[in-house]
Parts: sequence; structure tokens; C-alpha cells
Amino acid sequence: MDNKKIAQLRENYNRATLSSEDLLPNPFDFFKKWLDKAIQAQVLEPNAMTLATATVDGFPSARIVLLKGIDEGGFLFYTNYESDKAKQLAENPRAALVFNWLELHRQVRIEGEVEKVSKAIAEAYFQSRPKGSQIGAYASPQSQVIPDRKVLEQNVEQLILKYKEQEALPIPKHWGGYRVKPHKIEFWQGRTSRLHDRFRYTLQADNLWRTERLAP
Ligand SMILES: Cc1cc2nc3c(=O)[nH]c(=O)nc-3n(C[C@H](O)[C@H](O)[C@H](O)COP(=O)(O)O)c2cc1C
Repeated sequence: MDNKKIAQLRENYNRATLSSEDLLPNPFDFFKKWLDKAIQAQVLEPNAMTLATATVDGFPSARIVLLKGIDEGGFLFYTNYESDKAKQLAENPRAALVFNWLELHRQVRIEGEVEKVSKAIAEAYFQSRPKGSQIGAYASPQSQVIPDRKVLEQNVEQLILKYKEQEALPIPKHWGGYRVKPHKIEFWQGRTSRLHDRFRYTLQADNLWRTERLAP
């Protein structure tokens, strides 16, 4: 693949339009509507979102995580509390999320403050996971350098033995969830000739959101 080929990759965005009349007063409601559409349209992993965090001196990093819930406070995901992202969130508890629903020519961008979810919420989610995923949460020292894959496989074998009598594992101390509490949410609908529709919700006061159209 040469640069000319890369430069010529081009998609015509013509699936839908977005106008101010389509919006709902609360962006959480509108997000859920779009997520439902993405599920109906069989978008692959519609709850996959890019999570951007930054060190306190401003170095950003981004990776994909899975949205695992929405409550009145924000958007929830689960991870290892000793991972790189967790270290960044400890020193700089702010994040951005991006959903990329290419099949619908849609993007949603979310920015906000981040907090850990309660132990009870994390526990309930952890207990809803299959045993294999629970073992995985213990077996992997996420973001640390490991010599080879064998280390993980040995950890898994030991955990299988240790918990062979139990149907489920207790939640690990180093594992839990975060809530991204948005103050800005932008909905993007691709249109022809790059004249896309963009609407941004900005939090004004408790649950009161201003909406504005942005130039593409
Ligand atoms: C589709 C997809 C879903 C993922 N979901 C999660 C997730 O929910 N939680 C998580 O910790 N990592 C998830 N990952 C792995 C992360 O992208 C990342 O590799 C890992 O969390 C380590 O990131 P960090 O070193 O920046 O902390 C997912 C990756 C992909 C591609």
C-alpha cells in the first residue's frame, strides 16, 4: 500500500442528516437513541470507544475500551486500576471518549471529569462476567512488561486450580470501573462533500444543556 493509494481512500457520507429538530433536550437520551440505531444496524462492537487520557504534563494517550453502562452521572467502563490509563487518571482525572460508528457515518465525542465507580457497582459488573474473564482480570498485570505469553498462561493455570471449587471469583483489588462525567457531548453525522452535520451539547447547570451547531 503506497501513499497515493492511502490518499485516495475516500468514502461518500450520505446515509442520513442531523438537524436541531432531531435533537432531544438531554444528550444522554440522544446518545442512547444513536446507540440503539448502531445496534440495529449491526455495527461491530457498537460499545467500543476510544478513551483518551493524559499525563499531568500533557502527554496524551488513547486506547479502545468497552462502554459497560450509562447512569445519570456518566459513561462507565472497567479496567485494571494499575494500568497506564489508571495511572494517568489518578494524576489527571479527565478524559475524552470517541465512538466511531462508520457503518452509519456517525461519530460521538464526549469530554469530562472522571471518577471511580463505587465498589458495589464494580462488584455487580464483575460478578456478571464469565469465569474466564474473571480469571483474566487476575492473570494479567495490565500494561506491565512481561517476558513471554507463558507467564499469563501459568497465571491462568494456577487461578483455575485455586478457584476450581468456586463458580465465581471475588473482585480483584486492582480492578474496577470509571465513570466519565461529561460536560460536552458532540454528535457528528457525515454528509456529502465534507459538509457534515455537527451538534455540540454543553452542560450549563444541573442537567441543563445548551446545543449549538458547529462547522464541519
Ligand atoms: C475492542 C477492544 C475493547 C477493549 N476493551 C477494553 C476494556 O473494556 N477495558 C480495558 O482495560 N481494556 C480494553 N481493551 C484493551 C485496551 O485497548 C488497552 O490495550 C489496555 O486497556 C491497556 O491500556 P493502557 O496501557 O493504556 O492502560 C480493549 C481493546 C479493544 C481493541
